[in-house]
Amino acid sequence: MAFKTIIEPFKIHSVQKIAMPDAAARQEALQRTGYNLFGLHADEVVIDLLTDSGTGAMSAAQWGAIMVGDESYAGSRSYERLRAVVEDLTGMPEVIPTHQGRASERILFSIVAGPGTVVPNNTHFDTTRANVEFQGAEARDLVIAEGRDPSADHPFKGNMDIEALEATIAEVGRNNIPLVMVTVTNNSGGGQPVSLENLRAVREACDRHDLPFFLDACRFAENAWFIKLREEGQSGRSPSEIAREMFSLADGITFSAKKDGLANIGGLLVMRDAELAAQCRNLLILTEGFPTYGGLAGRDLEAIAVGLEEVLQEGYLRYRIRSTEYLAEKCRAAGVPIVWPPGGHAVYLDAMALLPHIAQAEYPAQSLAVELYRKGGVRGVEIGSVMFGSVHDDGSEEPAAMELVRLAVPRRTYTQSHIDYVAEVVLSVAARAEELRGYRIVEQAPWLRHFTARFEPL
Ligand SMILES: Cc1ncc(COP(=O)(O)O)c(C=O)c1O
Repeated sequence: MAFKTIIEPFKIHSVQKIAMPDAAARQEALQRTGYNLFGLHADEVVIDLLTDSGTGAMSAAQWGAIMVGDESYAGSRSYERLRAVVEDLTGMPEVIPTHQGRASERILFSIVAGPGTVVPNNTHFDTTRANVEFQGAEARDLVIAEGRDPSADHPFKGNMDIEALEATIAEVGRNNIPLVMVTVTNNSGGGQPVSLENLRAVREACDRHDLPFFLDACRFAENAWFIKLREEGQSGRSPSEIAREMFSLADGITFSAKKDGLANIGGLLVMRDAELAAQCRNLLILTEGFPTYGGLAGRDLEAIAVGLEEVLQEGYLRYRIRSTEYLAEKCRAAGVPIVWPPGGHAVYLDAMALLPHIAQAEYPAQSLAVELYRKGGVRGVEIGSVMFGSVHDDGSEEPAAMELVRLAVPRRTYTQSHIDYVAEVVLSVAARAEELRGYRIVEQAPWLRHFTARFEPL
């Protein structure tokens, strides 16, 4: 390309109004919600970077496909269309639709995991961990050391530590490992990619010990793009070819269509093993629905089928990864500490580095997230001690390893000027970082407290 500006590869065809609450309204909203951004109404938020899950914009082709959705209870044409797209992409014949990613996880792990078993992953996403642990199994994270260091510059910080995987297999025994999982990209590790070389090494380890290998493939296309950009020998291949090779290495996938399915709802559980798939379908019928719709409407199946094709287009992926990187570069150039290099779907602000005067016990990342909202109506999410700190029986707390604020970028939803605005808000908050104060929790639930806790400024 002759020009360096990477434009949004779409024209806007339908728009939604953005609310513009003034400073007084934002302050009032903060007081009402007890300084918890999960309590905000959508109309109180200017730019919503809470999550990239299900918040993207669908294309005209997806909306068009929705109109031809076949709502037959059994044998829906829309299921057949989706099944064909997924089988063609993954090379896996058993295609089970679910209402979202965690439903796929629940079904899979209720069959394969149990007390005494260990599931290795680079880093379990929180619903994956919860579904593994709900079966009484251990969810073990084996990401490489660089993946745990916010500032270590490494092209594939999501890679699995193969030595640690071998050590785990030796320690717990092959029979106590139902499967090995790798999350692409590694959401809980900052949206960092996994290389093809690493996926091949995981496959080889699984072959040595006769273990199944599953991908948590929520962001498979973003991962494929990073491989194209960063892995030796891959730049000439298309994202589709790379994605197909990624899938060819695995025995199955769990998938949330709310990410790289470019849909607002949906999930998939896909595999090669027909016997395991039959067991999964038996559970599917209990809570999700008949195997040709699995908790979704026929129109949703259509939207996902189209989304899976659009997400692998080079123009889309170039824009997608660049728009996240663009925000990250603006923050970094102004000296705002962030997880580096940026991942595919989000920029993570490092609150511990930005606010060294706020002790972890006073929730620096919560303070930063609240301030981004107070200052400019930008909603991110605290990923620190509020979310991951452990509370002991005596009320004392062990802080999380990192204090981050995640700014997740929804797909095809905001333009460059929205992102420029976000950067301006971040920079203006960072410029007066020393004025920020910590918070204390005045009310909290016994688990998943971050969703409903109430805070008071100190
Ligand atoms: C890596 C990863 N796995 C699984 C899930 C769960 O998917 P869902 O929200 O559709 O249940 C998510 C959602 O954010 C995710 O990022």
